Amino acid sequence: MKEVNVAILGMGTVGGGIYQLIEQEGRNIEEKEGIRLKVKKTLALDYSVDVPEEKKARDISEIIEDPEIQIVAEVMGGIKPAKDFEMMALRAGKTVVSANKDMISQNWPDLEAAAKEGGVGHYFEAAVGGAIPILRAVQDSMQANTITEVYGIVNGTTNYILTMMDERGLDFDEALREAQELGYAEANPTSDIDGLDARYKLSILASLCFNARVPVDKIPCEGISKLARMDIEIGKELGYVVKLLAIGKRDEDGAIEARVAPTMIPKDHALANIKGSFNAVFIEGSAVGEMMWYGKGAGDLPTASALVSDMIYSVKAGEPRYASFDNRYDAQGVRFNDNGLTEYYIRLMVKDEPGVLSQIAGVFGDNHVSIRSVLQKPAEKGGLAPLIIVTHEAHEKDLQKAVAEMSSVEAVHGELHCIRVEQ
Ligand code: HSE
Repeated sequence: MKEVNVAILGMGTVGGGIYQLIEQEGRNIEEKEGIRLKVKKTLALDYSVDVPEEKKARDISEIIEDPEIQIVAEVMGGIKPAKDFEMMALRAGKTVVSANKDMISQNWPDLEAAAKEGGVGHYFEAAVGGAIPILRAVQDSMQANTITEVYGIVNGTTNYILTMMDERGLDFDEALREAQELGYAEANPTSDIDGLDARYKLSILASLCFNARVPVDKIPCEGISKLARMDIEIGKELGYVVKLLAIGKRDEDGAIEARVAPTMIPKDHALANIKGSFNAVFIEGSAVGEMMWYGKGAGDLPTASALVSDMIYSVKAGEPRYASFDNRYDAQGVRFNDNGLTEYYIRLMVKDEPGVLSQIAGVFGDNHVSIRSVLQKPAEKGGLAPLIIVTHEAHEKDLQKAVAEMSSVEAVHGELHCIRVEQ
């Protein structure tokens, strides 16, 4: 039996989950893997579970300087001091497992350099999709594929809110309040609802899928707070469900397009049926075709499951695993496509008068945007009617130009509501 001493940094929900899971499943892991995981030290200000006093470290040096500790799990979150602690542990030759998607996605090259310096691995399965073993699947089970597309529902908070808006007809604010009351959304929900959490996750996931560094700042990001219930309802009539998708695509020339945005998808697509706070990742690979993974993207034991799996993986892997692409900040040779082709749903509020439709169609036509279908709803109280245009695939820049020009059409009032459509 191989004994492996572990330290946990941060003993909130996830840290407590790791502690509990090792207690609960320790015997099982010993039998299956021949590894005895022992939590030797923890470091935290607050503890979500009871931990004996002798396992509570006074400071980080007590962990870094302990030669018996082989693995450090960092689940404190945030950038400071989490980055410093991970770097110290890696340089000291300790494997680091982490769920810290924002810190890792923005500091991956530094962390990897520190891991190489220490001759150890840095693993972060829990950072994307929580319990879903998607990074391992991409790295260890799909090597014989060129991955061309990845679509993820990787934020449970927003998926819960969108599910409530869709199924119960709630407004965004009502659904957010309910998500907060139930503990799905945090008191400050910005990172989730603005799509930032999903963007960090996509940066990591797309980099591994496409074997090229996809930095966070190359990913345009739009959240869900401006989504109107009306668009979700009209989308439904048209056969679509709105999801906050983290999307990565690689075209035949190798150019990468990545974005996080509310997106309409056909209601019979597998991702349309991912409800509540669940996560899912859908991948198109050259050999496997379409694949999908589904599961809990957050929570104590689900997230801990991925972290403990990384611990075991690190012990069993002969060599530490590093990115097989150029993972420097100034990685050369990666091309990004900022003018991708997508279909669009556009809602305009218009005066219901003769000639209006032809003016609007003219603006789209002048900008090479082809219309697939048009739907007009009855005029509302102010006399304005919702006019819905669904386009064929259009280049992003053409669409943006058409949208900008639409403000000069006198019959169009207020903002356009524009949602991407993926078939
Ligand atoms: N806040 C995230 C979510 C979980 O709602 O999915 C942690 O990334």
